[in-house]
Amino acid sequence: MHHFHYRDGTLHAEDVSLADIAAEVGTPFYCYSRATLERHYTVFADAFKGTDTLICYSVKANSNIAVIKTLADLGSGADIVSEGELRRAIKAGVPANKIVFSGVGKQARELKLALETGIYQFNVESEPELELLSQVATSLNKEAAIALRVNPDVDARTHEKITTGKAENKFGISWKQAPRVYARAAQLPGIKIAGIDVHIGSQLTDLAPFEAAFTRVAGMVAELRQAGHEITRLDLGGGLGIPYRGTNDVPPPPTDYAAMVKKTVGHLGCQLMFEPGRMIAGNAGILVVGVVYEKQGDDRSFLIVDGAMNDLIRPTLYDAYHEVLPVHEATIEAPCRNYDIVGPICETGDYFAKARTLAPQQPGDLLALMSAGAYGAVQASTYNTRPLVPEIMVDGTQFAVIRPRPTYDEMLDQDRLPDWLAS
Ligand code: LLP
Repeated sequence: MHHFHYRDGTLHAEDVSLADIAAEVGTPFYCYSRATLERHYTVFADAFKGTDTLICYSVKANSNIAVIKTLADLGSGADIVSEGELRRAIKAGVPANKIVFSGVGKQARELKLALETGIYQFNVESEPELELLSQVATSLNKEAAIALRVNPDVDARTHEKITTGKAENKFGISWKQAPRVYARAAQLPGIKIAGIDVHIGSQLTDLAPFEAAFTRVAGMVAELRQAGHEITRLDLGGGLGIPYRGTNDVPPPPTDYAAMVKKTVGHLGCQLMFEPGRMIAGNAGILVVGVVYEKQGDDRSFLIVDGAMNDLIRPTLYDAYHEVLPVHEATIEAPCRNYDIVGPICETGDYFAKARTLAPQQPGDLLALMSAGAYGAVQASTYNTRPLVPEIMVDGTQFAVIRPRPTYDEMLDQDRLPDWLAS
Protein backbone atom coordinates (compact mmCIF):
# COMPACT_ATOMS: atom_id res chain seq x y z
CA MET A 1 0.00 0.00 0.00
CA HIS A 2 1.26 3.46 -0.85
CA HIS A 3 0.15 7.07 -0.71
CA PHE A 4 0.17 8.01 -4.40
CA HIS A 5 -3.44 8.54 -5.50
CA TYR A 6 -5.55 10.49 -7.94
CA ARG A 7 -7.45 13.41 -6.55
CA ASP A 8 -9.71 15.41 -8.89
CA GLY A 9 -8.00 13.75 -11.84
CA THR A 10 -4.44 14.58 -10.78
CA LEU A 11 -1.97 12.17 -9.24
CA HIS A 12 -0.93 13.25 -5.76
CA ALA A 13 1.82 12.20 -3.38
CA GLU A 14 -0.07 12.24 -0.09
CA ASP A 15 -1.78 15.68 -0.23
CA VAL A 16 0.53 17.30 -2.76
CA SER A 17 -0.19 17.44 -6.48
CA LEU A 18 2.69 16.07 -8.53
CA ALA A 19 1.89 18.68 -11.15
CA ASP A 20 2.59 21.38 -8.57
CA ILE A 21 5.96 19.82 -7.73
CA ALA A 22 6.78 19.57 -11.44
CA ALA A 23 5.92 23.24 -11.91
CA GLU A 24 8.31 24.17 -9.12
CA VAL A 25 11.28 21.83 -9.66
CA GLY A 26 10.91 20.76 -13.29
CA THR A 27 11.12 17.21 -14.61
CA PRO A 28 12.39 14.59 -14.22
CA PHE A 29 12.28 14.22 -10.43
CA TYR A 30 12.01 11.48 -7.86
CA CYS A 31 9.29 11.90 -5.27
CA TYR A 32 9.10 9.97 -2.00
CA SER A 33 6.20 9.74 0.40
CA ARG A 34 7.14 9.92 4.05
CA ALA A 35 3.86 8.28 5.14
CA THR A 36 4.57 5.32 2.85
CA LEU A 37 8.11 4.87 4.13
CA GLU A 38 6.79 4.94 7.68
CA ARG A 39 3.97 2.58 6.91
CA HIS A 40 6.24 -0.02 5.33
CA TYR A 41 8.73 0.09 8.17
CA THR A 42 5.94 -0.19 10.73
CA VAL A 43 4.20 -3.08 8.97
CA PHE A 44 7.47 -5.00 8.93
CA ALA A 45 8.34 -4.14 12.54
CA ASP A 46 4.82 -4.99 13.75
CA ALA A 47 5.04 -8.42 12.15
CA PHE A 48 7.83 -9.21 14.62
CA LYS A 49 6.38 -7.46 17.67
CA GLY A 50 7.21 -9.35 20.84
CA THR A 51 10.38 -10.93 19.45
CA ASP A 52 13.92 -9.67 19.99
CA THR A 53 14.44 -8.05 16.61
CA LEU A 54 16.75 -5.46 15.07
CA ILE A 55 15.66 -4.04 11.72
CA CYS A 56 18.55 -2.52 9.81
CA TYR A 57 17.15 -0.71 6.76
CA SER A 58 19.36 -1.56 3.79
CA VAL A 59 20.66 1.86 2.91
CA LYS A 60 21.71 0.83 -0.60
CA ALA A 61 18.06 0.80 -1.68
CA ASN A 62 17.69 4.53 -1.14
CA SER A 63 20.43 6.31 0.70
CA ASN A 64 19.14 9.86 0.79
CA ILE A 65 19.83 11.09 4.30
CA ALA A 66 16.24 12.32 4.67
CA VAL A 67 15.00 8.81 3.89
CA ILE A 68 17.42 7.18 6.33
CA LYS A 69 16.48 9.70 9.03
CA THR A 70 12.77 9.14 8.50
CA LEU A 71 13.36 5.48 9.27
CA ALA A 72 15.94 6.05 12.01
CA ASP A 73 13.36 8.21 13.80
CA LEU A 74 11.11 5.13 13.90
CA GLY A 75 13.89 3.07 15.48
CA SER A 76 15.46 1.56 12.39
CA GLY A 77 19.12 0.66 12.23
CA ALA A 78 21.12 0.55 9.00
CA ASP A 79 22.67 -2.13 6.84
CA ILE A 80 25.61 -0.52 5.05
CA VAL A 81 28.10 -1.74 2.45
CA SER A 82 30.63 1.07 2.17
CA GLU A 83 32.31 3.89 4.01
CA GLY A 84 30.04 6.30 2.17
CA GLU A 85 26.92 4.56 3.41
CA LEU A 86 28.37 4.44 6.92
CA ARG A 87 28.87 8.19 6.81
CA ARG A 88 25.32 8.68 5.55
CA ALA A 89 23.85 6.48 8.29
CA ILE A 90 25.74 8.36 10.99
CA LYS A 91 24.76 11.73 9.53
CA ALA A 92 21.12 10.60 9.50
CA GLY A 93 21.34 9.83 13.20
CA VAL A 94 21.37 6.04 13.14
CA PRO A 95 22.95 4.93 16.44
CA ALA A 96 26.24 3.08 15.91
CA ASN A 97 24.92 0.11 17.85
CA LYS A 98 22.26 -0.41 15.18
CA ILE A 99 24.62 -0.48 12.20
CA VAL A 100 25.63 -3.68 10.45
CA PHE A 101 28.34 -3.73 7.78
CA SER A 102 27.85 -6.11 4.83
CA GLY A 103 29.72 -6.42 1.53
CA VAL A 104 32.33 -8.59 -0.17
CA GLY A 105 35.15 -6.06 -0.54
CA LYS A 106 35.49 -4.12 2.70
CA GLN A 107 38.83 -2.32 2.82
CA ALA A 108 41.09 -1.66 5.82
CA ARG A 109 40.16 2.02 6.07
CA GLU A 110 36.45 1.17 6.01
CA LEU A 111 36.90 -1.46 8.72
CA LYS A 112 38.86 1.05 10.77
CA LEU A 113 36.19 3.74 10.54
CA ALA A 114 33.48 1.21 11.38
CA LEU A 115 35.42 -0.05 14.40
CA GLU A 116 36.08 3.49 15.60
CA THR A 117 32.40 4.26 15.17
CA GLY A 118 31.57 1.21 17.27
CA ILE A 119 29.12 -0.47 14.91
CA TYR A 120 27.04 -3.41 16.04
CA GLN A 121 28.20 -6.11 13.66
CA PHE A 122 30.43 -6.98 10.72
CA ASN A 123 29.01 -9.49 8.28
CA VAL A 124 32.18 -11.15 7.11
CA GLU A 125 32.13 -12.57 3.60
CA SER A 126 35.54 -14.24 3.22
CA GLU A 127 38.52 -15.59 5.13
CA PRO A 128 40.88 -12.81 3.97
CA GLU A 129 38.35 -10.27 5.24
CA LEU A 130 38.22 -12.05 8.58
CA GLU A 131 42.01 -11.95 8.91
CA LEU A 132 42.12 -8.26 7.95
CA LEU A 133 39.36 -7.37 10.39
CA SER A 134 41.27 -9.15 13.16
CA GLN A 135 44.42 -7.18 12.32
CA VAL A 136 42.66 -3.82 12.16
CA ALA A 137 40.67 -4.47 15.35
CA THR A 138 43.78 -5.56 17.24
CA SER A 139 45.71 -2.50 16.10
CA LEU A 140 42.92 -0.32 17.48
CA ASN A 141 42.59 -2.39 20.63
CA LYS A 142 38.97 -3.10 19.76
CA GLU A 143 36.84 -6.19 19.38
CA ALA A 144 34.66 -6.72 16.29
CA ALA A 145 31.39 -8.59 16.73
CA ILE A 146 30.98 -10.73 13.65
CA ALA A 147 28.62 -12.96 11.79
CA LEU A 148 29.87 -14.96 8.86
CA ARG A 149 27.68 -14.45 5.84
CA VAL A 150 27.03 -17.99 4.77
CA ASN A 151 26.15 -18.86 1.22
CA PRO A 152 23.51 -21.57 1.57
CA ASP A 153 23.47 -22.52 -2.13
CA VAL A 154 19.75 -21.90 -2.45
CA ASP A 155 18.14 -20.58 -5.62
CA ALA A 156 16.15 -17.45 -4.75
CA ARG A 157 14.19 -17.77 -8.02
CA THR A 158 14.52 -14.11 -8.83
CA HIS A 159 16.29 -12.26 -11.66
CA GLU A 160 19.78 -13.70 -12.23
CA LYS A 161 21.46 -10.34 -11.55
CA ILE A 162 19.96 -10.09 -8.07
CA THR A 163 20.45 -13.68 -6.97
CA THR A 164 23.14 -13.91 -4.28
CA GLY A 165 22.78 -17.22 -2.47
CA LYS A 166 23.93 -19.73 -5.07
CA ALA A 167 27.35 -21.40 -4.95
CA GLU A 168 28.32 -19.65 -8.19
CA ASN A 169 27.63 -16.18 -6.70
CA LYS A 170 30.49 -14.18 -5.19
CA PHE A 171 28.68 -13.63 -1.91
CA GLY A 172 29.35 -15.13 1.47
CA ILE A 173 31.22 -18.22 2.56
CA SER A 174 30.03 -21.61 1.41
CA TRP A 175 27.91 -23.21 4.12
CA LYS A 176 30.12 -26.27 3.75
CA GLN A 177 33.26 -24.29 4.62
CA ALA A 178 31.62 -22.21 7.33
CA PRO A 179 32.35 -24.53 10.31
CA ARG A 180 36.06 -24.38 9.53
CA VAL A 181 36.00 -20.59 9.18
CA TYR A 182 34.09 -20.22 12.45
CA ALA A 183 36.79 -22.31 14.13
CA ARG A 184 39.39 -19.96 12.71
CA ALA A 185 37.41 -16.90 13.82
CA ALA A 186 37.29 -18.26 17.37
CA GLN A 187 41.09 -18.22 17.47
CA LEU A 188 41.60 -14.75 16.08
CA PRO A 189 42.28 -11.80 18.39
CA GLY A 190 39.94 -8.86 18.08
CA ILE A 191 37.12 -11.06 16.79
CA LYS A 192 34.00 -12.00 18.74
CA ILE A 193 31.65 -14.46 17.10
CA ALA A 194 28.08 -13.23 17.50
CA GLY A 195 25.99 -14.97 14.90
CA ILE A 196 25.24 -16.09 11.38
CA ASP A 197 24.21 -13.93 8.44
CA VAL A 198 22.43 -14.97 5.26
CA HIS A 199 20.99 -13.05 2.30
CA ILE A 200 19.99 -14.97 -0.81
CA GLY A 201 18.73 -12.31 -3.18
CA SER A 202 16.32 -9.51 -3.81
CA GLN A 203 12.71 -9.20 -5.01
CA LEU A 204 11.79 -12.68 -3.80
CA THR A 205 8.12 -13.31 -4.42
CA ASP A 206 7.97 -16.74 -2.86
CA LEU A 207 8.73 -17.77 0.71
CA ALA A 208 10.09 -21.22 -0.18
CA PRO A 209 13.69 -20.16 -0.97
CA PHE A 210 13.82 -18.12 2.27
CA GLU A 211 12.53 -21.12 4.17
CA ALA A 212 15.13 -23.42 2.60
CA ALA A 213 17.93 -20.99 3.48
CA PHE A 214 16.73 -20.34 7.04
CA THR A 215 16.29 -24.05 7.66
CA ARG A 216 19.89 -24.55 6.62
CA VAL A 217 20.91 -21.74 8.98
CA ALA A 218 18.98 -23.35 11.85
CA GLY A 219 20.93 -26.56 11.28
CA MET A 220 24.16 -24.61 11.35
CA VAL A 221 23.27 -22.94 14.65
CA ALA A 222 22.98 -26.36 16.29
CA GLU A 223 26.22 -27.54 14.73
CA LEU A 224 28.17 -24.40 15.67
CA ARG A 225 26.86 -24.41 19.22
CA GLN A 226 27.92 -28.00 19.54
CA ALA A 227 31.39 -26.94 18.47
CA GLY A 228 31.38 -24.46 21.34
CA HIS A 229 30.57 -21.22 19.52
CA GLU A 230 28.20 -18.74 21.07
CA ILE A 231 25.57 -17.94 18.44
CA THR A 232 23.24 -15.27 19.76
CA ARG A 233 22.21 -13.39 16.62
CA LEU A 234 20.79 -14.37 13.25
CA ASP A 235 20.89 -11.78 10.48
CA LEU A 236 18.40 -13.00 7.90
CA GLY A 237 19.13 -10.31 5.31
CA GLY A 238 16.56 -8.57 3.16
CA GLY A 239 15.00 -9.65 -0.08
CA LEU A 240 11.25 -9.59 0.42
CA GLY A 241 9.66 -8.60 -2.90
CA ILE A 242 7.12 -5.88 -3.57
CA PRO A 243 4.18 -5.65 -6.00
CA TYR A 244 5.36 -3.88 -9.15
CA ARG A 245 2.23 -4.68 -11.14
CA GLY A 246 -0.44 -3.44 -8.78
CA THR A 247 -2.79 -6.23 -7.80
CA ASN A 248 -1.45 -8.56 -10.51
CA ASP A 249 1.54 -9.64 -8.50
CA VAL A 250 1.19 -10.22 -4.83
CA PRO A 251 4.36 -11.08 -2.93
CA PRO A 252 3.94 -12.60 0.51
CA PRO A 253 2.95 -10.03 3.14
CA PRO A 254 5.39 -9.37 6.01
CA THR A 255 3.06 -11.25 8.39
CA ASP A 256 3.47 -14.47 6.37
CA TYR A 257 7.20 -13.88 6.13
CA ALA A 258 7.37 -13.36 9.91
CA ALA A 259 5.38 -16.54 10.56
CA MET A 260 7.80 -18.52 8.38
CA VAL A 261 10.81 -16.96 10.13
CA LYS A 262 9.43 -17.80 13.56
CA LYS A 263 8.68 -21.34 12.43
CA THR A 264 12.18 -21.97 11.05
CA VAL A 265 14.45 -20.13 13.51
CA GLY A 266 12.20 -18.78 16.27
CA HIS A 267 13.06 -21.56 18.69
CA LEU A 268 16.81 -20.87 18.69
CA GLY A 269 16.75 -18.05 21.23
CA CYS A 270 18.67 -15.67 18.96
CA GLN A 271 18.15 -12.00 18.31
CA LEU A 272 16.73 -11.74 14.80
CA MET A 273 18.17 -9.09 12.50
CA PHE A 274 16.77 -8.05 9.12
CA GLU A 275 18.07 -5.90 6.28
CA PRO A 276 15.00 -4.93 4.26
CA GLY A 277 15.54 -2.34 1.54
CA ARG A 278 13.11 -2.63 -1.33
CA MET A 279 10.07 -3.53 0.76
CA ILE A 280 10.49 -0.29 2.70
CA ALA A 281 11.50 2.17 -0.02
CA GLY A 282 10.31 0.61 -3.29
CA ASN A 283 6.68 1.63 -3.38
CA ALA A 284 7.38 4.79 -1.40
CA GLY A 285 8.90 6.53 -4.41
CA ILE A 286 8.14 7.40 -8.02
CA LEU A 287 9.97 9.01 -10.91
CA VAL A 288 8.04 11.76 -12.66
CA VAL A 289 9.03 12.51 -16.24
CA GLY A 290 7.74 14.88 -18.89
CA VAL A 291 6.78 13.94 -22.44
CA VAL A 292 9.05 15.59 -25.01
CA TYR A 293 7.76 14.13 -28.28
CA GLU A 294 5.51 11.47 -29.63
CA LYS A 295 7.14 9.80 -32.60
CA GLN A 296 5.38 7.48 -35.01
CA GLY A 297 7.50 4.48 -36.06
CA ASP A 298 6.50 1.97 -38.74
CA ASP A 299 4.98 -0.45 -36.32
CA ARG A 300 4.74 1.44 -33.01
CA SER A 301 4.51 4.79 -31.30
CA PHE A 302 7.35 6.06 -29.16
CA LEU A 303 6.80 8.44 -26.32
CA ILE A 304 10.12 10.19 -25.85
CA VAL A 305 10.33 11.51 -22.30
CA ASP A 306 12.87 13.66 -20.48
CA GLY A 307 13.90 10.91 -18.03
CA ALA A 308 16.22 8.16 -19.20
CA MET A 309 18.07 4.96 -18.35
CA ASN A 310 20.69 6.96 -16.46
CA ASP A 311 17.94 8.11 -14.09
CA LEU A 312 16.23 4.74 -13.64
CA ILE A 313 18.21 1.82 -14.99
CA ARG A 314 16.03 -1.01 -13.66
CA PRO A 315 13.98 -1.68 -16.82
CA THR A 316 17.00 -2.18 -19.03
CA LEU A 317 19.28 -3.81 -16.45
CA TYR A 318 16.85 -6.24 -14.83
CA ASP A 319 13.99 -6.32 -17.35
CA ALA A 320 12.05 -4.67 -14.55
CA TYR A 321 8.44 -3.65 -14.92
CA HIS A 322 7.40 -0.24 -13.60
CA GLU A 323 3.78 0.78 -13.85
CA VAL A 324 3.34 4.04 -15.81
CA LEU A 325 0.55 6.42 -14.78
CA PRO A 326 -0.36 9.75 -16.35
CA VAL A 327 -0.19 12.50 -13.75
CA HIS A 328 -3.36 13.98 -15.26
CA GLU A 329 -6.11 11.50 -15.96
CA ALA A 330 -7.55 11.76 -19.45
CA THR A 331 -10.39 14.25 -19.59
CA ILE A 332 -11.66 13.54 -23.09
CA GLU A 333 -12.81 10.15 -24.27
CA ALA A 334 -10.15 9.17 -26.82
CA PRO A 335 -9.08 5.65 -27.65
CA CYS A 336 -6.00 4.54 -25.73
CA ARG A 337 -2.73 4.10 -27.58
CA ASN A 338 0.11 1.66 -27.33
CA TYR A 339 3.43 3.28 -26.55
CA ASP A 340 7.06 2.39 -26.05
CA ILE A 341 8.23 4.88 -23.43
CA VAL A 342 11.84 5.78 -24.09
CA GLY A 343 14.44 8.35 -23.06
CA PRO A 344 16.72 10.63 -25.07
CA ILE A 345 19.94 8.65 -24.50
CA CYS A 346 21.82 7.26 -27.45
CA GLU A 347 21.32 3.61 -26.57
CA THR A 348 18.71 1.13 -27.70
CA GLY A 349 18.50 -0.03 -24.09
CA ASP A 350 17.24 3.39 -23.06
CA TYR A 351 13.62 2.57 -22.35
CA PHE A 352 11.30 2.55 -19.37
CA ALA A 353 8.45 0.47 -20.72
CA LYS A 354 7.33 -1.26 -23.89
CA ALA A 355 3.88 -1.60 -25.43
CA ARG A 356 2.05 0.24 -22.67
CA THR A 357 -1.53 1.26 -23.14
CA LEU A 358 -2.10 4.89 -22.22
CA ALA A 359 -4.48 7.69 -23.12
CA PRO A 360 -3.00 9.81 -25.93
CA GLN A 361 -0.13 11.92 -24.59
CA GLN A 362 1.03 15.37 -25.69
CA PRO A 363 4.39 17.09 -25.29
CA GLY A 364 4.54 18.55 -21.79
CA ASP A 365 2.31 15.87 -20.26
CA LEU A 366 3.62 14.23 -17.12
CA LEU A 367 4.04 10.51 -16.47
CA ALA A 368 4.81 8.77 -13.21
CA LEU A 369 6.95 5.64 -13.15
CA MET A 370 5.72 3.88 -10.08
CA SER A 371 7.63 1.78 -7.51
CA ALA A 372 10.89 3.59 -8.17
CA GLY A 373 11.80 4.43 -4.57
CA ALA A 374 14.30 1.58 -4.23
CA TYR A 375 17.33 1.21 -6.50
CA GLY A 376 16.20 4.23 -8.52
CA ALA A 377 18.02 7.44 -7.59
CA VAL A 378 20.87 5.50 -5.99
CA GLN A 379 21.71 3.81 -9.28
CA ALA A 380 21.50 6.99 -11.33
CA SER A 381 24.45 8.32 -13.27
CA THR A 382 25.25 11.40 -15.33
CA TYR A 383 25.63 9.50 -18.61
CA ASN A 384 25.20 11.80 -21.63
CA THR A 385 26.04 14.66 -19.20
CA ARG A 386 22.55 14.59 -17.77
CA PRO A 387 22.28 16.14 -14.30
CA LEU A 388 21.34 13.74 -11.51
CA VAL A 389 17.60 13.82 -10.94
CA PRO A 390 16.49 15.82 -7.90
CA GLU A 391 14.78 14.05 -5.04
CA ILE A 392 11.67 15.39 -3.32
CA MET A 393 10.03 14.20 -0.13
CA VAL A 394 6.38 14.80 0.61
CA ASP A 395 4.91 14.84 4.10
CA GLY A 396 1.17 15.47 4.16
CA THR A 397 0.59 18.84 2.52
CA GLN A 398 4.24 19.87 2.42
CA PHE A 399 7.14 18.91 0.24
CA ALA A 400 10.86 19.57 0.29
CA VAL A 401 13.75 19.13 -2.11
CA ILE A 402 15.97 16.58 -0.37
CA ARG A 403 18.60 16.60 -3.12
CA PRO A 404 18.61 19.43 -5.64
CA ARG A 405 19.28 19.06 -9.32
CA PRO A 406 22.94 20.01 -9.90
CA THR A 407 23.56 22.92 -12.24
CA TYR A 408 25.59 22.40 -15.39
CA ASP A 409 28.32 24.56 -13.92
CA GLU A 410 28.50 22.27 -10.88
CA MET A 411 28.77 19.27 -13.16
CA LEU A 412 31.36 20.69 -15.52
CA ASP A 413 33.43 22.13 -12.69
CA GLN A 414 34.19 18.56 -11.59
CA ASP A 415 36.51 18.14 -14.57
CA ARG A 416 40.06 19.50 -14.52
CA LEU A 417 42.33 20.31 -17.41
CA PRO A 418 45.88 19.00 -17.01
CA ASP A 419 48.59 21.66 -17.21
CA TRP A 420 49.58 20.64 -20.71
CA LEU A 421 46.09 21.37 -21.99
CA ALA A 422 45.27 24.39 -19.87
CA SER A 423 46.67 27.18 -22.04
N1 LLP B 1 21.29 -7.14 2.51
C1 LLP B 1 22.22 -7.42 1.59
C2 LLP B 1 23.47 -8.07 2.02
C3 LLP B 1 22.00 -7.11 0.24
O1 LLP B 1 22.91 -7.41 -0.66
C4 LLP B 1 20.78 -6.49 -0.13
C5 LLP B 1 20.52 -6.14 -1.53
C6 LLP B 1 19.84 -6.20 0.88
C7 LLP B 1 20.13 -6.56 2.18
C8 LLP B 1 18.53 -5.53 0.58
O2 LLP B 1 17.72 -6.34 -0.21
P1 LLP B 1 16.21 -5.93 -0.51
O3 LLP B 1 15.43 -6.05 0.76
O4 LLP B 1 16.21 -4.54 -1.02
O5 LLP B 1 15.77 -6.90 -1.54
N2 LLP B 1 19.54 -3.07 -7.78
C9 LLP B 1 18.71 -4.26 -7.75
C10 LLP B 1 18.65 -4.89 -6.38
C11 LLP B 1 20.01 -5.21 -5.81
C12 LLP B 1 19.96 -5.79 -4.41
C13 LLP B 1 21.30 -5.86 -3.82
N3 LLP B 1 21.35 -6.32 -2.48
C14 LLP B 1 17.32 -3.92 -8.26
O6 LLP B 1 17.08 -2.77 -8.63
O7 LLP B 1 16.47 -4.79 -8.34
